[in-house]
Amino acid sequence: MARTAWDPRRLPDLTGRRYLVTGSTRGLGYFATEQLVRAGAHVILTGRNPNRLAAAHAAIERRVLDAAARGSGAEAAGGGEARHPTSGSLETLLLDTSNFGSIRAAAATARTRGPLHGLLLNAGIVHPPRTRQTVGGHELVFATNVLGHFSLAGELLQNLAVVGGRMVWIGSMSTLLGDHEPVDPELVNDYTPWRAYVQSKVATTVLGLEADRRLREAGVPVASLVAHPGYAISGRTAGVRGVNEPSRMTRFIDNLQAPISQSKEHGAHALVRALADADIEGGQFWGPRYLVHGTPHRTTPAKLLRDPALGTRLWDYCENATRVRWPFEKAARARRRLR
Ligand SMILES: NC(=O)c1ccc[n+]([C@@H]2O[C@H](COP(=O)([O-])OP(=O)(O)OC[C@H]3O[C@@H](n4cnc5c(N)ncnc54)[C@H](OP(=O)(O)O)[C@@H]3O)[C@@H](O)[C@H]2O)c1
Repeated sequence: MARTAWDPRRLPDLTGRRYLVTGSTRGLGYFATEQLVRAGAHVILTGRNPNRLAAAHAAIERRVLDAAARGSGAEAAGGGEARHPTSGSLETLLLDTSNFGSIRAAAATARTRGPLHGLLLNAGIVHPPRTRQTVGGHELVFATNVLGHFSLAGELLQNLAVVGGRMVWIGSMSTLLGDHEPVDPELVNDYTPWRAYVQSKVATTVLGLEADRRLREAGVPVASLVAHPGYAISGRTAGVRGVNEPSRMTRFIDNLQAPISQSKEHGAHALVRALADADIEGGQFWGPRYLVHGTPHRTTPAKLLRDPALGTRLWDYCENATRVRWPFEKAARARRRLR
């Protein structure tokens, strides 16, 4: 499909393609999952909480799969998205990205499920705690948003490589506001919630671009790229039982921000395009056309985010912290099998 023809409401047929989404219990991860399933994909829906995972699973069954069986998918979804003749499918998997043991266990299960066409590294703490907290000895936000995804992507590299898949890391426009170089990535000194969040998003972006450089250099047939959703808020998003139930006050406040925001469904469009558009290449950065809202558009990350020296530093930091070494050589052999 030509790049100009991409329509987020009318995705290409993704039947036979398999994706894994982290943090798919609500927000962008949930809506990205809905969009992929509606386009015919099989999605491994992951989350840290079994009840929320079950609620998200039930919501997709209700809004996409049951509605498709009744022949009313587009209306039931409320987003006006096109439904494909063959609806997709989904399964759930417990995965806490702040917990290395949980990641290893989930990855072991996911590996048995076979090839993966895409990995959406979406889970994240968006509102960090007021004071620094640690989990497994690491600062909570950095562990959840960065280290967990670094481990998971390394653990699943082979499954991506066998089908020439891709991984999408989630950045943020907050990384454009000021210089937030992660000199002290886990904020042992000078923790603030804002700094913890922005540094984690600088890190995911830098690692996403660094991963692509390393994958190319090693000849691994996997692309790594970065996407961001603009400013996507729940009060401007369709209500979904068990998944998105904002209070009246949240709706009121979020609607006051209408000119500078969008819904989470729309925020997910750039993430899904980065994951599923065959014309997109590794090393790219995608977000909404008008920064905070709009249709998916290729954009340029700030200079700091493209700095290979910072990429090397963060990569080494993550390898040491997680003890995960990406299996580049093994994954490169998949290229020969692909030919
Ligand atoms: N919304 C925006 O405007 C915006 C802007 C820029 C970037 N982003 C990025 O987009 C991603 C999603 O944001 P969102 O707005 O959709 O946030 P959200 O509505 O708060 O959803 C966050 C998701 O991440 C999950 N999560 C949090 N900690 C986790 C953990 N330890 N293990 C597994 N899952 C975990 C949550 O699961 P639970 O249901 O269990 O809490 C939830 O499913 C984040 O990476 C965020 O940084 C968002």
